[in-house]
Amino acid sequence: MTVRIAPSVLSADFGRLADDIARCEAGGADWIHVDVMDGRFVPNLTFGAKVIETLRRLTTLPLDVHLMVVEPERYFETFAGAGASVLTIHQEVAPHLHRQLHRIRELGCRAGAAINPSTPVESLRDVAGDLDLLLVMSVNPGFGGQKFIEGSLGKIARARQLLTAVGSGAVLEVDGGVSRDTIRQCWRAGADTFVAGNAVFTAPDTAAEISELRSRCSEMA
Ligand code: DX5
Ligand code: ZN
Repeated sequence: MTVRIAPSVLSADFGRLADDIARCEAGGADWIHVDVMDGRFVPNLTFGAKVIETLRRLTTLPLDVHLMVVEPERYFETFAGAGASVLTIHQEVAPHLHRQLHRIRELGCRAGAAINPSTPVESLRDVAGDLDLLLVMSVNPGFGGQKFIEGSLGKIARARQLLTAVGSGAVLEVDGGVSRDTIRQCWRAGADTFVAGNAVFTAPDTAAEISELRSRCSEMA
């Protein structure tokens, strides 16, 4: 199973964004995770199309855009145009999830659905075959640097079972509190793609941290 490490720019130094992105890319990151927050679905407020466009110029890595916003469909076109590779929307604010996922694909992006810690995997059953990515939140969304919620491991395993049951090759991503201490259990539970904000950006050596995170997913123990 391919392991992907996706540093989250939420924890980058925005005064030195180009350097931070370059270090991630040179350090072996697979994707760049971009957390869009609207101050409504989550309490925090971050960035929009302009920053996605800037990131698109700074790296050739896929931009994994995580929309923590209400009415996410309002942003599909501009974000796809700005260079997003993946657009992931939250199940909790997507009453027309099937239609929204297909719209994202029409715009040329991969379509993802995210679930909060309190949202069951079962809520994605009927769209499981329409997903390019399933994102299990392992913290309540809104901020970087939070503690990993242990119950997420069972959810990752149930999400993996669901994808297997429908014969889906979708990416299974975990986001929140992923670190050297938690990544291996997530991988064992069935995740293949790991968002890491704090872990990557507070590390003294970005490349070493990314490679350490990756290696924890292959150790036999
Ligand atoms: C949380 C965001 C995460 C966040 C992860 O709402 O969706 O992507 O940046 O940060 P860490 O890895 O520090 O928990
Ligand atoms: Zn995120």
